[in-house]
Amino acid sequence: MIKVDVSNVISEQEIAKYSKEVTRINKMIDDKSGAGNDYLGWVDWPVNYDKEELERLLKDTKYVRDNFEVLVVAGIGGSYLGAKSAYDALKGMKSDDKLEVIFMGQTFSPNYTAQVLKYLENKKFAINVISKSGTTTETSIAFRLLKDLLERKVGKEEARKSIFAVTDKARGALKTLCNQEGYSTYVLPDDIGGRYSVLTPVGLFPLACAGVDVKAMLKGAKEAREEFDNYDLKTNMCYRYAVSRDYMLKHNKPVEMYVTYEPQMSQISEWLKQLFGESEGKEKKGLLPTSATFSTDLHSLGQFIQDGSPVLFETILNVLTPNDDVTIPMDKDDLDGLNYLAGKNLAYVNQMAFQGTLKAHEEVGQVPCNVITIDKLDAKTLGYLYYFFMRACAMSAYLLDINPFNQPGVEVYKKNMFHLLGKKGY
Ligand code: PA5
Repeated sequence: MIKVDVSNVISEQEIAKYSKEVTRINKMIDDKSGAGNDYLGWVDWPVNYDKEELERLLKDTKYVRDNFEVLVVAGIGGSYLGAKSAYDALKGMKSDDKLEVIFMGQTFSPNYTAQVLKYLENKKFAINVISKSGTTTETSIAFRLLKDLLERKVGKEEARKSIFAVTDKARGALKTLCNQEGYSTYVLPDDIGGRYSVLTPVGLFPLACAGVDVKAMLKGAKEAREEFDNYDLKTNMCYRYAVSRDYMLKHNKPVEMYVTYEPQMSQISEWLKQLFGESEGKEKKGLLPTSATFSTDLHSLGQFIQDGSPVLFETILNVLTPNDDVTIPMDKDDLDGLNYLAGKNLAYVNQMAFQGTLKAHEEVGQVPCNVITIDKLDAKTLGYLYYFFMRACAMSAYLLDINPFNQPGVEVYKKNMFHLLGKKGY
């Protein structure tokens, strides 16, 4: 379903040197014997997911699609980026779907929050609150505001039928609230962490509401699971990508830049930045994940990439066939000199921009580039791609001897913020 070319980043000879280590780590992932082993539920999730829960989810999400104009998703980090990235990638940035999905609670921004609340005043909206811990401050504030608005608009009884939650099966303030209010609730399993949860109800509830074929996503992920659960570095593209990253880190390229040529995939880069940044960035180790959208950023960061400090390598997500296209028209005067492109599609121009840039960066700029090619952006491919990256991330972090599934560093700012806000116990 995808093609992964790492040949500009690492040679076959260097890949082969990782063979023993990759075999050991792949076994560790399968046996669940490595650090953070109680968070490996995502590995077999594409076959083990709760089938009954999925059917209930499809019923609830159909109800949302048929009865509301807007679904507001309240969540942050892993409880937000998966759904947001797939929504943008599959629906486009100007979706004309009958149900609009918007996101809140991924920021404390008073401007953004006030704007969303104002927008919702005259809309028939449902709420999907998502939080594994059930205590994340951004999400909790957003949910309190949304619930308050909804209850004022439609009354407590009707609001109760318009609120859907995804949280831990037993713990947390959100779970207590769900039990008390009787909201329809979905479980984020104990053994799956936020940034590995896109294929659970965390991603699937909002995406099914948006009309995405979530069963196809799970099918894609299942295929990826079958394909990448092996240690053969000659054929396993997922692990070849993982070792290329490790090789770059060890050869003075501490920055990985995710590149797309589709603005509607820029949120996939955000998801990737969280996945790899939060999983690997520990104990003063890890690659810094960054991102760019070309050709837009070729007119800004392009100069640095071509000619600046030689710190980075690229991982390019190239989509061969766009879902939409535009043909450049003929103009009889040709004053803009563009008639040489008349009759050509923008997909063709975009591909030529990709090929020209790749050559410029690799050959002149000496920037190593991985190229991941997919034929088409659809739900199944996306499910496959998410799984590919999650497995590659686990392998990459274990190659660095890092626990891929915790995030101790993010607690530090929270403690300071809670102290300043006067929260009890801080
Ligand atoms: O990957 C993670 O675990 C984090 O990014 C969390 O998803 C994020 O902090 C939100 O947490 P919660 O779902 O508990 O609100």
